[in-house]
Amino acid sequence: MTKTILTGDRPTGKLHLGHYIGSLKNRVALQDNDQYDPYVMIADMQALTDNAHNPKKIQDNLLNVALDYLSVGIDPAKTTIFVQSQIPALSELTMYYMNLVSISRVERNPTVKTEIKQKNFGEGVPTGFVVYPISQAADITAFRASLVPVGDDQLPMIEQCREIVRTFNATYHTDVLVEPEAMLPPAGLARRLPGIDGNAKMSKSLNNGIYLSDDEQTLHDKVFSMYTDPDHIHVSDPGKVEGNVVFEYLDVFAPDQTAVDDLKRQYQAGGLGDVKVKKYLFDVLNDLLKPIRAKRAEYAKDENAVRQMLKDGSDKANEVANDTLKKARAAIGVNYFDTLEK
Ligand code: TRP
Repeated sequence: MTKTILTGDRPTGKLHLGHYIGSLKNRVALQDNDQYDPYVMIADMQALTDNAHNPKKIQDNLLNVALDYLSVGIDPAKTTIFVQSQIPALSELTMYYMNLVSISRVERNPTVKTEIKQKNFGEGVPTGFVVYPISQAADITAFRASLVPVGDDQLPMIEQCREIVRTFNATYHTDVLVEPEAMLPPAGLARRLPGIDGNAKMSKSLNNGIYLSDDEQTLHDKVFSMYTDPDHIHVSDPGKVEGNVVFEYLDVFAPDQTAVDDLKRQYQAGGLGDVKVKKYLFDVLNDLLKPIRAKRAEYAKDENAVRQMLKDGSDKANEVANDTLKKARAAIGVNYFDTLEK
């Protein structure tokens, strides 16, 4: 029995190295394991829950994210890539699930609480935003996904989804919905990749991320502007490697960790300049990004082919989601006309 895996991203920006190491790389590995049937969803409706007045941003980034997927090697022949808004069953399931979740329960979701604080919703918090975990439960259950690879900020979503599955199945005396499990990244990769300025998080507003689509010159400029050890002024000074972004990136990306350990020893002893370490990191990252850039350029030549790929994936996703919806409707008893079907 193959296990269905669902992952997703909100198309609110281009994907960066943090996405690559925390998620994309793993998706490529999973698609080659025939125990799994992977689905990747571009969560444009979820993105609209806090971007309702800026649909252009979502529209533009839909293609950006699709190109990011293809360029890192997510292969539409092995992974079903689809677009959330094109799967009407997800919205209908969300409506049924909302009746099974109390207002106080949605207000208790810690990730949503944090996001509400961060997002300064001037006109008040959109209802759609508060209930997006319910819609995410529809995403997961529509495909009967049993594994959801996520970062730990998404654990409350999986927990809420599991509750909905249990309540739905118990209320309507069915087993149509499958309880998913979170699949966390290996311990070493669970930590967030810091921004180039040393900030704990890469964010568009801080302009401190390295994007998969950055060209060579941009990558060079970003690596050479990285935060290191502010007290490491002269090459001969002993330097710190903890909290030094260049070394944090080398720990994650350098194929030769023995060489990195050597560099660390020299840096800590004094006598190794920032420029040399940055050049080393630039080469490591450029080796990683070069083939990704080339693939991206290839796919970017034909945007309609990319759109067609998303449509084909969405057609397939609709078949699966509609089948789950049909069974869910029957369980609830809103299948009044099923007996009329020929
Ligand atoms: N909330 C996820 C994020 O912000 C995106 C997402 C939407 C998702 N639906 C999903 C992830 C279903 C996994 C499964 O990253």
